[in-house]
Amino acid sequence: MEKREELYRGKAKTVYRTDDPDLFIMHFRDDTSAFDGKKVAQLPRKGMVNNTFNAFIMGKLAEAGIPCHFVKRLDERDSLVRRLDMLPIECVVRNVAAGSICRRLGVQEGMDLVPPTFELFLKNDALGDPMINDSHVASFGWATPEQVARARELTFQVNDILKKLFADAGMILVDYKLEFGTFNGELMLGDEFSPDGCRIWDAQTRQKMDKDRFRQDLGDVIETYEEVGRRLGMSFG
Ligand code: TMP
Ligand code: ASP
Repeated sequence: MEKREELYRGKAKTVYRTDDPDLFIMHFRDDTSAFDGKKVAQLPRKGMVNNTFNAFIMGKLAEAGIPCHFVKRLDERDSLVRRLDMLPIECVVRNVAAGSICRRLGVQEGMDLVPPTFELFLKNDALGDPMINDSHVASFGWATPEQVARARELTFQVNDILKKLFADAGMILVDYKLEFGTFNGELMLGDEFSPDGCRIWDAQTRQKMDKDRFRQDLGDVIETYEEVGRRLGMSFG
């Protein structure tokens, strides 16, 4: 499958058309951003590592029955995906308190959240990805109530699958963000799953193994992403 014209350039990935109108190529760059694009850097190898990481996780999710846009990894930095009409919302599940929930609700980082929380954010960097609820989604027509219900159901199913996968490899899946879209009317998981969009801690030491290493200048960002991948059974080129 050949790349045709560039369709969309995000903060870390570029999406290209292909000859097949139903299929896009997702290209993972080394660009890394945080705080809604306010902190940016180039981290060598990141594109390769996240493409490999995403292919592995999407493969596990698809195997477990989650409808995913992912079709296959094409090479080091490219993957073939189905063309989705994306919903402009982000679904976040938290198993342990970290990041914005600590600031918003004044809770201690590391508090277990039982049951896990589910939050919606609007995908809008200029507004700082504000938190929204089902009512906003309905009033502004960002998705139908049925789509939100299905996205929530799939996001929790992903939690059951991935929490165990990470736990079996000595890690805690603290939180993560998923994005969904529709393909011929069916809601599917889109975007990516990589350490850029989730928090992962070592189960013993609680060492941070995700993009918080970049956000908080902890160093060894990509080396740690690779360590997470290796523990899960991935191999990097
Ligand atoms: P938060 O603590 O900043 O609200 O983020 C929760 C989790 O979701 C964290 O793993 C980062 C991820 N996330 C993104 O990757 N992109 C986003 O735009 C948002 C809102 C969250
Ligand atoms: N809001 C997320 C972060 O702080 C994602 C982003 O801004 O790109 O990393």
